[in-house]
Amino acid sequence: MTTMSIETLKSIKASGNKFAAITAYDYSFAKLVDKADIEVTLVGDSLGNVIQGQRTTIPVTLDEMAYHTNNVRRGIQSSLILSDMPFMSYGTVPQALENAAILMQAGAQMVKLEGGEWLSETVYALTERGIPVCAHLGLTPQSVHKLGGFKVQGKDANAADKIVSDAKILESAGADLLVVECVPSTLGKELASSLNIPVIGIGAGSDTDAQVLVLQDMLGISDGAPKFSKNYMAQSSSIEEALRTYRNEVLSGAFPEPKHQF
Ligand code: KIV
Repeated sequence: MTTMSIETLKSIKASGNKFAAITAYDYSFAKLVDKADIEVTLVGDSLGNVIQGQRTTIPVTLDEMAYHTNNVRRGIQSSLILSDMPFMSYGTVPQALENAAILMQAGAQMVKLEGGEWLSETVYALTERGIPVCAHLGLTPQSVHKLGGFKVQGKDANAADKIVSDAKILESAGADLLVVECVPSTLGKELASSLNIPVIGIGAGSDTDAQVLVLQDMLGISDGAPKFSKNYMAQSSSIEEALRTYRNEVLSGAFPEPKHQF
């Protein structure tokens, strides 16, 4: 696979094709993800759950994100490295600039921020300074206490309209990708068709431009994987084969199946 860039991801969308993303947190798994030609490697703050055994992503620190980003960086040749900015590391524009720079210097090629319209100034400030941004809408796990739990978002028309409006504002502010988590598949489809930037879904149906899963969920080793995930080890004899099958199923549209959708 050639080195992945944002432009390549946009051209995949423009040609009506799909791409795959997966989380990784260390060198060894990053090498396997890269070998399986997975287009985007997300150093997710889900490492709080699957590496640290925390209940939420809130305890994850910037130092930890930089440490894991740096380890992943050494395992990647081609895949695009996207790193999560952790809880309260982008509460203000100056904080976001300072902390995003740390992740970029650790090896990230793009940073991901959870939140809607309120982040437009931050997205603009980061992108103007050469830091690509992926927005994250729908279920935003860093706000779990405000949301009242890990629940499907955008279920009624007003909530869905707000997510679409936030997405358009963040795209106009300069975001190059959008992750949308845990929303009805009709909303995932609407987002993908109304934005020019690629929309990566997780529990957002089969009509988004790409899918992302948490590695440990798709390897069947997490504590209770969500409904929208699939255990690819159940049908594979190696981790590399599981990753390749996942990517093939995303690209062909075979994953997610109706049972993985809301
Ligand atoms: O941290 C993470 O793994 C994520 C995905 C759930 C999209 O943000």
